[in-house]
Amino acid sequence: MFRSLIDFIRKIYGVNRFIALHEPVIGDLEKEYINKVLDSGFVSSVGEEVKEFERQISSFVGAKFAIATSNGTSALHAALLVAGVQPKDEVITQSLTFVATSNAIHYCNANPIFIDVDRSNLGLSEDSLEDFLTKNCEIRDDGFCWNRATKKIVRACVPMHTFGLSANLFEIREICNRYNIVLIEDAAESLGTKNKNSHSGTIGDLGIISFNGNKIITTGGGGIVVTNNQAMARKLKHLTTTAKVSHEWNFSHDMVGYNYRMPNLNAALGLAQLQRLNEYIQIKRDIALSYQSWGERNGFNFVKELSGTRSNYWLNTMLVEDREVRDLLLKETNDHSIMTRPAWDPVHLMTANTHCQRDSLENTNWLADRIINLPSGVPKNEH
Ligand SMILES: Cc1ncc(COP(=O)(O)O)c(C=O)c1O
Repeated sequence: MFRSLIDFIRKIYGVNRFIALHEPVIGDLEKEYINKVLDSGFVSSVGEEVKEFERQISSFVGAKFAIATSNGTSALHAALLVAGVQPKDEVITQSLTFVATSNAIHYCNANPIFIDVDRSNLGLSEDSLEDFLTKNCEIRDDGFCWNRATKKIVRACVPMHTFGLSANLFEIREICNRYNIVLIEDAAESLGTKNKNSHSGTIGDLGIISFNGNKIITTGGGGIVVTNNQAMARKLKHLTTTAKVSHEWNFSHDMVGYNYRMPNLNAALGLAQLQRLNEYIQIKRDIALSYQSWGERNGFNFVKELSGTRSNYWLNTMLVEDREVRDLLLKETNDHSIMTRPAWDPVHLMTANTHCQRDSLENTNWLADRIINLPSGVPKNEH
């Protein structure tokens, strides 16, 4: 039934073997950089490569500061703590996201509130956000945004740039500013994505990026927090390096910190990958265009970047008629050794989240039944 799609994917990836959703491309440069670090002995969290990785990412995204972490989840946790999220606080996010987004909120002993996404860009809907805040929240004399029903402070908002598509961050920022809510962008999937020339992750107060093996570039495991706020950047560095007070030989820690720093060995891998990031973005955008024109010719609906934004097209996304068609397509492609997958189960359905406040989540549920991600990595034969 989906033969033409299967043939088309095989044409892009040009192989008869198993086609993964998003494989890393590791070449000689990666081996050279890693060997250099192995020879230096600086394999752990101290070293020049991790500092250089931070410099290069901050310059690439156009943020003043970047603090490298062990993964995107620890970056999110640290960002939430630095945003001032305290136990019992509330944090607005979307349910159509990877579990790490809501997990990080729980790590702070705070509660997620799940707000619907936009069908056009799959990111947090600014209209649903405004609607929720107008109906449920008020700014009190202490300057904070209070949720009238739960009597708790809504401290932060974490929109996510789904599959590399840009959420409407400028509109979301305006709303968060009005309600005194700290804005943290979950840009785990969107390195290279822009909105009106601003890089994803740099429009909010803080942004996080993941360098997991399935992302556009990888450090094996790794993440980073980017910000233009110097005070937040200092706190992030301190918190993610076990809160050690800098001293030549003393080991003093002035609070309970976290061992979240990215190891130098991982940063070396990242530095090699960074050299090809622009090329990877271009290749992935070309693949997205060919999927989209194939879709137009064959009656399949692809989610496209909105005007004024540039997507890194981390994972190409089709919307099919309903859950039944989705499952048929998933079975047929996977049976033919082509890895495709549905969206994550919406995280508001997890037992840990069933008590959380949420709006109708109509688009979230509608999308979850229809989303299919197709193979989107840089083809190996490009290198
Ligand atoms: C939306 C989102 N947030 C957070 C993360 C967490 O990143 P990591 O896997 O590096 O911990 C990921 C994925 O990996 C993600 O897709």
